[in-house]
Amino acid sequence: MTKDRYDAIVLGAGAAGLMCAGVAGQRGRRVLVVDHADRPGRKILISGGGRCNFTNLGTAPDRFLSANPHFARSALARYTPADFLELVERHDIAWHEKTLGQLFCDGSARQIVDMLLAECPDGVELATGQAIGEVDHGDGLFRLRLGARTATAPALVIATGGPSIPKIGGSGLAYDLARRFGLKVVEPRPALVPLTLTGDDLLFRALAGVSAPIEVRHGEASFREAALFTHRGLSGPAILQISSYWRRGEAIAVDFLPDRGAGWLPGAKRATPRATIARLLGDALPDRLAAALAGRLALGGELANLADARLATAEQALAAWRFVPSGTEGFAKAEVTVGGVSTAELSSRSMEARKLPGLYVVGEAVDVTGWLGGYNFQWAWASGWAAGDDIRLSP
Ligand code: FDA
Repeated sequence: MTKDRYDAIVLGAGAAGLMCAGVAGQRGRRVLVVDHADRPGRKILISGGGRCNFTNLGTAPDRFLSANPHFARSALARYTPADFLELVERHDIAWHEKTLGQLFCDGSARQIVDMLLAECPDGVELATGQAIGEVDHGDGLFRLRLGARTATAPALVIATGGPSIPKIGGSGLAYDLARRFGLKVVEPRPALVPLTLTGDDLLFRALAGVSAPIEVRHGEASFREAALFTHRGLSGPAILQISSYWRRGEAIAVDFLPDRGAGWLPGAKRATPRATIARLLGDALPDRLAAALAGRLALGGELANLADARLATAEQALAAWRFVPSGTEGFAKAEVTVGGVSTAELSSRSMEARKLPGLYVVGEAVDVTGWLGGYNFQWAWASGWAAGDDIRLSP
């Protein structure tokens, strides 16, 4: 094998690319990993507030969005959160469960990047700070121009992620390459992203900085977590989660009091007839939010003077407050991308393209997107592992 001939070229030294390279390298494959960023794993480094929420114990296929909801099943079953945790523990990285099955490093996300690099044996060569030039395929080999040199391999792994956060290296290269090799791409959209409000809802801008535990719904999806009002609209974990399901022009429904059963407001009238709506809401919600909602409901005065029917209508409004977001804060603020290389093009076992043996697509580049909370890294590890386990030795 010549110096520039490899068993696989991996494009992207992020979560999925490094996992794939390590696994293939440990199986004796010679691998070249190329990235335009000056250092590997930049998204890992900033993830989870610098502590990397590296997996979720609740990982299950129904926590991933995809045109084919069954696609992720095989890879997620073959490489599980327990497998990644075993790796983390083998590298003596201290971790903790924060909430909802989310596992974080006690120390720093850097430990995860160092671990992935340490898992790459000598046969894995890392080329960072490298613009990816021409990529083509012929006679069973992929050829990659890297400045003055040309690297070749019978396998090419597209692991360049999605276009979220271009400032730290996110790009649409995966889609361009996939299309060039004849693979379909499901329209990419920003996901896990704050939603913007305009029109009547702009009144809520006065609440910027206020956060409250709510339930948000869109179609079949619902999330019970905190929402945060911002000067542009809505954010916080609940909103980021629902943003992945939302499409332009559609409404989301927010239940501001998800713990209250039906009939609580007429019931409160009987128990505390002298109370006002503003005071009742203030018992359960931050003052500024309670005042804004009470103002919108326009039900002044004591409960005793309000008809039960009006209270029932107010209760329904509070349980399904309708927002029609004007948009999202876009790829600049999106943690991930919904959509990507169509799963119909790939083997769910190995991530290899059906049309072009030797071509693999892994991680966020694929049309599989996880919920907030460590699911996206688990997909990166599992899909990277699946490809790394499949890459063949050069003939
Ligand atoms: P990833 O983005 O990790 O890697 C792609 C690599 O390709 C990068 O190194 C990039 O530089 C390189 N690349 C891209 N375009 C290129 C080009 N044109 N030429 C050369 N190289 C190119 N998930 C989670 O589970 N838990 C968490 O805590 C977080 N936190 C989080 C915070 C923030 C701020 C963001 C933006 C995202 C998260 N995520 C997350 C999501 C998670 O980071 C993401 O899903 C994975 O990193 C995806 O792994 P990939 O390997 O597919 O792409």
